[in-house]
Amino acid sequence: MPKVTFITPDGEKITVEDAEGTLMEVASDHQITGIDAICGGVCSCATCHVRVKDEWLEKVGPPNETEKDILDLEDGTDANSRLSCQIEITDELDGLIVEVVEL
Ligand code: FES
Repeated sequence: MPKVTFITPDGEKITVEDAEGTLMEVASDHQITGIDAICGGVCSCATCHVRVKDEWLEKVGPPNETEKDILDLEDGTDANSRLSCQIEITDELDGLIVEVVEL
């Protein structure tokens, strides 16, 4: 199972060893601070915002069009921003590190 690490807004590193589903689902299942996921994963709230570490950007890939539109509406996003509900965990993402940034 892929392993993913969240860096919470207060700097805590939390690693989940058996990640499956979307990154938002993993965060919710493990009560990661700062991932509220108010819309339940339908890409309409941005409360699941994360910043993907530079070295993972290529493997994670760019946001889809809907996700990009939501991110563009928010202050505090940048080129590393993604909505974690739109990132499906795959074996290729084993070792992924993201920062949780509340908007
Ligand atoms: S959970 Fe709402 S946009 Fe991801």
